[in-house]
Amino acid sequence: MATKARLRSIPLLDLTRQYQPLREPIQTAISAVIESQRFILGAGVEHFEQRFADYCGARYAIGCASGTDALELALMALDIGAGDEVLTVPFTFFATAGAIMSAGARPVFVDVEPESFNLDVRQLDHALATHPRVKAILPVHLYGGCADTGPMIERAVARRIPVIEDAAQAVGAEWQGRRAGAIGTVGCFSFFPTKNLGGFGDGGMLTTDNEDLARKLKALRIHGSVEKYMHQWPGMNSRLDALQAAVLDVKLDHLDDWTRARQRNAALYCELLSGVVTTPAAQPYQTSHVYNQFVIRCARRDELRAFLAESGVGTEVYYPLPLHLQPALVSYGHKAGDFPVSEQLAKEVLALPIFAELTEEEITAVAGLIREFYGRA
Ligand SMILES: Cc1ncc(COP(=O)(O)O)c(C=O)c1O
Repeated sequence: MATKARLRSIPLLDLTRQYQPLREPIQTAISAVIESQRFILGAGVEHFEQRFADYCGARYAIGCASGTDALELALMALDIGAGDEVLTVPFTFFATAGAIMSAGARPVFVDVEPESFNLDVRQLDHALATHPRVKAILPVHLYGGCADTGPMIERAVARRIPVIEDAAQAVGAEWQGRRAGAIGTVGCFSFFPTKNLGGFGDGGMLTTDNEDLARKLKALRIHGSVEKYMHQWPGMNSRLDALQAAVLDVKLDHLDDWTRARQRNAALYCELLSGVVTTPAAQPYQTSHVYNQFVIRCARRDELRAFLAESGVGTEVYYPLPLHLQPALVSYGHKAGDFPVSEQLAKEVLALPIFAELTEEEITAVAGLIREFYGRA
């Protein structure tokens, strides 16, 4: 156990290391908002929206209060509600299905494939053929790797339904050279602090190339108001705070550097853990994987996790229970065995520290502990 004794703790994510070098520009940006006393929407938010749209390669970006709200707004804007079904995956954060259910629609699950952790497009045709009420396909770009969105778009176009990207974990990720949020009809992003571009609280964004949709989304986030005190739809109250936009605008300048650091960290883990556990491998269509999470698949996962925790290494399980088995979805009557790949992954996956500021020494130490656990030191 010599490795353990040498280690100081390595958390899953240490945001203080990101903040320290940015303290001054971020505090200046926050102060400017405070001095202006303009907190809701306004020029700062518009400036950040435009930069974010450009970053994704989309024509429009519309800020909102969270990634969950982004999904709900997208569904609302596309008139998806009671009686409709939406194709999505059971292996994702709850918000993906929660938003569909909040819209009054029903999530119809398609299992994921183990290599990419994303929607298995080989199962799409069957799912679409057996569910005539499907009014949208909602893939998730899990862990920062894009789902194989092209085949979904093909089917969606044929059926005249939209593709809503859950890009909450995937800012900057690419599918065949196109960035998340600019592949389907509309992209939904989260600025939750643990995301690659994280705010100082909740925040979200929608991206689209469709002018009418952008206009509707802008109205929906302010109670469906197209002009002051004229309400076209019920909408909701969901804005990106000017304070959050100010912080995110500073951070956006550094996002590409952080992404490259995450990719370097991932490559080092893959080298050090080769043959010991299953490391994630970017698929050919994932022309840039941004590693919001670096997730291995391994035997005796919970034991390994406890061993790493004892040694001061933070890890997390995303996600321990697939959505079809969650209590909130019990009324749909799913049972264990319905989506076997998701169920298997829920037992095997483990997210390791991957944040940009990790040192090579830390990654080597984490990998060394994992090798030691499996008797491969
Ligand atoms: C895949 C996915 N979808 C949606 C969300 C919801 O985003 P938020 O927490 O900003 O509401 C998250 C956030 O963790 C997510 O990971």
